[in-house]
Amino acid sequence: MSSIRTAVFPVAGLGTRFLPATKAIAKEMLTVVDKPLIQYATEEAVAAGMDTLVFVVGRTKNAIIDHYDKAYELETELGLRDKKALLKIVQDVVPSHIHCVFIRQSEALGLGHAVLCAEPAVGDKPFAVLLPDDLIYNKGGASCIQQMVDVYNERQGSVIGTQTVAVTESDKYGMVAGPKLADRLSRVDEIIEKPSPAEAPSDQAVVGRYILTPAILDKLKTTKRGAGNEIQLTDAIAELRKSEEIYAYSFEGRRYDCGSKIGYLEANVEIALQHEELSADFKNYLKNLQID
Ligand code: UTP
Repeated sequence: MSSIRTAVFPVAGLGTRFLPATKAIAKEMLTVVDKPLIQYATEEAVAAGMDTLVFVVGRTKNAIIDHYDKAYELETELGLRDKKALLKIVQDVVPSHIHCVFIRQSEALGLGHAVLCAEPAVGDKPFAVLLPDDLIYNKGGASCIQQMVDVYNERQGSVIGTQTVAVTESDKYGMVAGPKLADRLSRVDEIIEKPSPAEAPSDQAVVGRYILTPAILDKLKTTKRGAGNEIQLTDAIAELRKSEEIYAYSFEGRRYDCGSKIGYLEANVEIALQHEELSADFKNYLKNLQID
């Protein structure tokens, strides 16, 4: 049984970079090839042994709730038409041992606030946080969150997923710095949200995967609005660091920033190129593509 059973998916952001697509649906419901972004993240969590999925939803909640609910009409219709493979695809969205919880973040006050909204479902156990707009793919290897669960099991402390970025991009990320402890693993001595390149403590950026001890929830209760006038998870982690060791783990895998249009397009192209049914036709299409 996994040491981390609960995964939190904050999906209540405004998604302004994808308007008008995100006027009525959350950006996490945008599809990469044939699955919504959020399903890549829930599959990653379930494969790592998590069985309680907590969705922090906002005004565009309906499509997300429906996606993780039983689709009676559709399932009955597919059953009557004997479409077994399609029925399985629909039913596999929520395996039978999985428990889904939906919590409303009534105002988009920031990622930190969204995580705090999950408190009633998280309780006093360590939990994972996955931001579905960071799609992370590790072909043939352990998923990003599985790698981080392994680190948690060894170190028994909060673990933050990180990646090297150009320092000129530091004002888009939380940035961390600290001494190296092992291959891919460092201690977090400094963590700061969206510093200017001049203030960035390193080139290590926080991406959308965290394993957090429940003590973060108390820190979030007193975290004031920070960068972008939002309650930032990074600022609460900086507070937590004063009382607990926190680890930065530079995971193995390719990350697509699907919160940005270019990252989203890259994910669609590269995942289509690896898709069982589509790969050959899509490769052929790209090879013959002529743009004037
Ligand atoms: P982003 O920083 O990408 O913000 O949120 P956003 O609002 O979703 O998108 P843009 O920048 O306006 O295009 C990072 C993650 O935190 C969640 C988002 O849904 C996303 O998964 N989030 C953010 C919340 O759940 N609530 C918030 O108040 C803010």
